[in-house]
Amino acid sequence: MRMDKFKFALILLLGVCGLSCSGKRSGAVPNPQVFGRLDNGETIYLYTLANRTGMTAQIINYGAIMVSLKVPDGAGNFQDVILGFDDLEGYVNDQSYQGAVVGRFGNRIAGGKIHLDGKDYQLSVNDGNNHLHGGFTGFFKAVWDAQQESPNTLRLTLVSPAGEEGYPGNVHMTVTYCVTEDNSLKIEYRGTTDEPTILNPTSHGYFNLTGSPQNSILEHHLIIDADYITPVNSTLIPTGELLHVQGTPFDFRKPRPIGEAINADHEQLRFGSGYDHNWVLNNHTGAVRKVAELYDPDSGRLMEVLTDQPGLQFYSGNFLDGSLVGKKGQKYGFRTALCLEAQHFPDSPNKPNFPSVILRPGEEYGQTTIYRFSVK
Ligand code: GLA
Repeated sequence: MRMDKFKFALILLLGVCGLSCSGKRSGAVPNPQVFGRLDNGETIYLYTLANRTGMTAQIINYGAIMVSLKVPDGAGNFQDVILGFDDLEGYVNDQSYQGAVVGRFGNRIAGGKIHLDGKDYQLSVNDGNNHLHGGFTGFFKAVWDAQQESPNTLRLTLVSPAGEEGYPGNVHMTVTYCVTEDNSLKIEYRGTTDEPTILNPTSHGYFNLTGSPQNSILEHHLIIDADYITPVNSTLIPTGELLHVQGTPFDFRKPRPIGEAINADHEQLRFGSGYDHNWVLNNHTGAVRKVAELYDPDSGRLMEVLTDQPGLQFYSGNFLDGSLVGKKGQKYGFRTALCLEAQHFPDSPNKPNFPSVILRPGEEYGQTTIYRFSVK
């Protein structure tokens, strides 16, 4: 009996430590490597985070971009499960937000217009007539200050000045990446402002669990714990309504191959050229909970997504068309990767019925999102 209690406490403790960046690994912190130089001569560094069993994540201080994420398959082979580029130039020229922290507002804002405390602001318009992912030079094109705090933890900070891309307020951002002993990549975001503003950053990793972007992601099985999506118009701006997923191609409450219904005759799939929608996650209380699961039957790799956010954008790589050349000269073809972006709902600033994204002086923005890997 005593033993059982002891075991239970130990499992609980390991579980909690596994989820925490505060459980930093001791040991020598590797020196960052030079990744490249920007046109202005500034040097960009590559940081390697590792846990004791060999999972690694590599991050650069340009765009706080995750450039590789190596996790084992069922046979114990480590492979990179995200797309990206071999050099800095690739990321500087990239328009698809590969691996980056996007913001200030991840996702779209109609017309780039926000109205805050009686004032109107015009954000830059970089996606048709809309604002997307923070504008032309959002967080994903900024040079962050970086400090590797331990073999498995990297802390990046950035000051986004008032007026940048049209946003009010000087925003101080911190993003912490951590590779934990339970094979999780944990991303924590914090932000403060000196004027009322909006904030909704997210991570834009392009996952392919087969370890090879030569394979499509249509055979990956996906679960999303959500009863509703926020349906969109033809420019991917939410209408403000909620659409129940029951009986639609958007029902991922039970595991379903992504390709099963992606080509179904559904207006929402036509608007998105596939999946490019926000799922209204169940059980949103502000606590971190499991919201999604992605499984590749071939490699056995399983990725669980845990977050404290109310929404998840599932983008099935519909804009990849083979013209983008990435790591090892590979062409990134149609639907060879997918994004699962934990976030607030698109166009929230203009949708009073959506959870608020307003941040005021004296408050602190916080987000925790975890991508946890295992094999099945
Ligand atoms: C997000 C958007 C997509 C697309 C990609 C980048 O996921 O929702 O529509 O813009 O970023 O190509």
